[in-house]
Amino acid sequence: MLTTKLLFSFAVLVLQVYFASAIDDSHAWGYECINSRCEKIQITPANKETILDLRVCRLYCYDDIGTLWPKPTRNVTFLKSVTGVNPNYIKFTTESFKNNEFFEVAKERFIAMQKNKVKNYTLGGLDLNIAITAENDDMELNYDVYEGYSITIISNTNAIEVMISSKNFFGARHALETLSQVIVYDELNTKLVVLAAANIQDEPKFKHRGISMDTSRNFYPVNIIKKTIDGLAMAKLNSFHWHITDSQAFPMEVKSHPDFTKYGAYSKSKIYTADDIKDVVKFAKSRGVRVIPELDAPAHIGEGWQKKLDLTTCVNYMPYLDYCWQPPCGHMNPIKDELYDVLEDIYREMLESFTPPVFHMGGDEIFFSCWNTSKPLQDWMLNKNLTLDHDGFLELWGYYQTNALKRMDKVGGSKLPIMLWTSELTEEPFASKFLDKDRYVIQIWTTGDDPKIQRVLNSGYKVIISNYDAFYLDCGFGSWAYDGLIWCSPYNEWQKVYDNDLNGMGGERIDQILGGSATIWSESIDEHNLDSKIWPRASALAERLWTNPKEHWRNAEPRFLMHQMYLKSSGGLASEVLQPEWCVHNEGLCQL
Ligand SMILES: *[C@@H]1O[C@H](CO)[C@@H](O)[C@H](O)[C@H]1NC(C)=O
Ligand SMILES: *[C@@H]1O[C@H](CO)[C@@H](O)[C@H](O)[C@H]1NC(C)=O
Ligand SMILES: *[C@@H]1O[C@H](CO)[C@@H](O)[C@H](O)[C@H]1NC(C)=O
Ligand SMILES: *[C@@H]1O[C@H](CO)[C@@H](O)[C@H](O)[C@H]1NC(C)=O
Repeated sequence: MLTTKLLFSFAVLVLQVYFASAIDDSHAWGYECINSRCEKIQITPANKETILDLRVCRLYCYDDIGTLWPKPTRNVTFLKSVTGVNPNYIKFTTESFKNNEFFEVAKERFIAMQKNKVKNYTLGGLDLNIAITAENDDMELNYDVYEGYSITIISNTNAIEVMISSKNFFGARHALETLSQVIVYDELNTKLVVLAAANIQDEPKFKHRGISMDTSRNFYPVNIIKKTIDGLAMAKLNSFHWHITDSQAFPMEVKSHPDFTKYGAYSKSKIYTADDIKDVVKFAKSRGVRVIPELDAPAHIGEGWQKKLDLTTCVNYMPYLDYCWQPPCGHMNPIKDELYDVLEDIYREMLESFTPPVFHMGGDEIFFSCWNTSKPLQDWMLNKNLTLDHDGFLELWGYYQTNALKRMDKVGGSKLPIMLWTSELTEEPFASKFLDKDRYVIQIWTTGDDPKIQRVLNSGYKVIISNYDAFYLDCGFGSWAYDGLIWCSPYNEWQKVYDNDLNGMGGERIDQILGGSATIWSESIDEHNLDSKIWPRASALAERLWTNPKEHWRNAEPRFLMHQMYLKSSGGLASEVLQPEWCVHNEGLCQL
């Protein structure tokens, strides 16, 4: 601690030597940190040497660092001053990531992000030397990975020294994200600056933090998916759950069954090839993001199955509402042995291209009336002594899940964790009968106060929280098939996302909550309105899951506004704007 103090005072000296004001008189305003609040002050000859740029003031004017999002969970100590950085002299040294291509990408990305911050560079600033020590070079991003890190920043006479230590690549990468957030462009002085000295120890509260994105209802080009994943990385989100197929379109290439995309893609170009998927997975990994593929089944199928209609029931049957919630309907036919051969082929190819740490098998919105349209299926059930009522069809569903999992195990081994959406199958007595609690992770999409959550937890499952009354980002807009607003309305504003009470949902079983996922159902979203649906609300989710703060949104708002600007300027994300910019300049005055 003593050494840190010494270094801190040394940094102040350096700072005073370094900072000669470059302020011209083209703008009247600057900021002063008064009582832990950044006050807007007119620039005068008298205060010209000490007045601060908005970003600089917001960086260090508080007990906590005001630009860090999500907020660190352990120790944060820092010096309230900055040092100029020369973005052309950023150097990395590490023995931990020899020949690790993911690290090379993370490094280049970091450097590019700093250079991009500079709008009009005035020469000067110190070298930035970043030394990284990690315990191992493992690149498997499963739920056992520890993502914590520590980072120390010290300024001395000719360089800024940054020391990062972590267990692995993923922790080190988060540290770089933190470092990037304490490097800001000082527009008043036209300089890139970094916090002069700091010590941060940080680790996430939840292991699964991410989004669930539907690329079937509307197609997103690969570069848009990548841009989104880049945004996840900026908020230390670590999961991209890819709901890649649905009943409206089948855009995923399956080499052993080319008819899926031939009939199921919206066009020749609206296809995710195996190479596209591998490319996205690699891109994501270098940004600390796991890609979790979903093949939704046995419902939510239709387009693409045209050449396999004998393996389905009720595809495109009308009236739609008798068989599903939205056009076109369709279920797999679980009594067909050939169905499982096809599933095995799809799983094999998906495991090869996604190399996933966990696989999502879907399992939502089964309509028994769809299965019940098939006379051979009814006969098969009666032969097996299954009744044609609710319980009988649940047994049939269990039969499907058991057999589909066998095929998954055949190609993927019996250790791969499996995810399913909450449904009647995840309720007792069926859950215990068909779904091994040590194998299945249940993604909960009911309301946050639904007793179903406790029931699923009591059955012993680990869960991912996606309660639609807080974590669904597509709610609150016009419906596309019905009158009025979409079913899950109202809109979940960032405050609601932020305040979503996971502790309340988990109770004594909080340890079974692996984390949460915000959903982007894409019936009315495509590449042109995607950013504003996700951002900045996914970042509100990010702090809920990384930090799990006790405080409510009001406390976080000034920091959130800075982060939202950072998403735009450094991530190129067309984030929704939350307030007039006046509120950014007049801290706290827009909270009524
Ligand atoms: C904070 O840092 C101090 C000194 O480095 C250490 O003793 C303490 O355990 C840390 N606290 C937490 C919560 O990590
Ligand atoms: C950049 O800085 C130079 C020198 O101070 C100035 O002449 C120029 O107008 C600035 N450009 C922008 C875009 O601010
Ligand atoms: C169905 O029940 C009948 C009468 O109890 C029994 O003879 C038959 O073996 C059962 N079939 C199956 C498949 O369990
Ligand atoms: C299935 O259809 C039969 C008539 O064929 C009917 O008796 C039964 O109630 C139906 N089951 C469900 C769950 O709708």
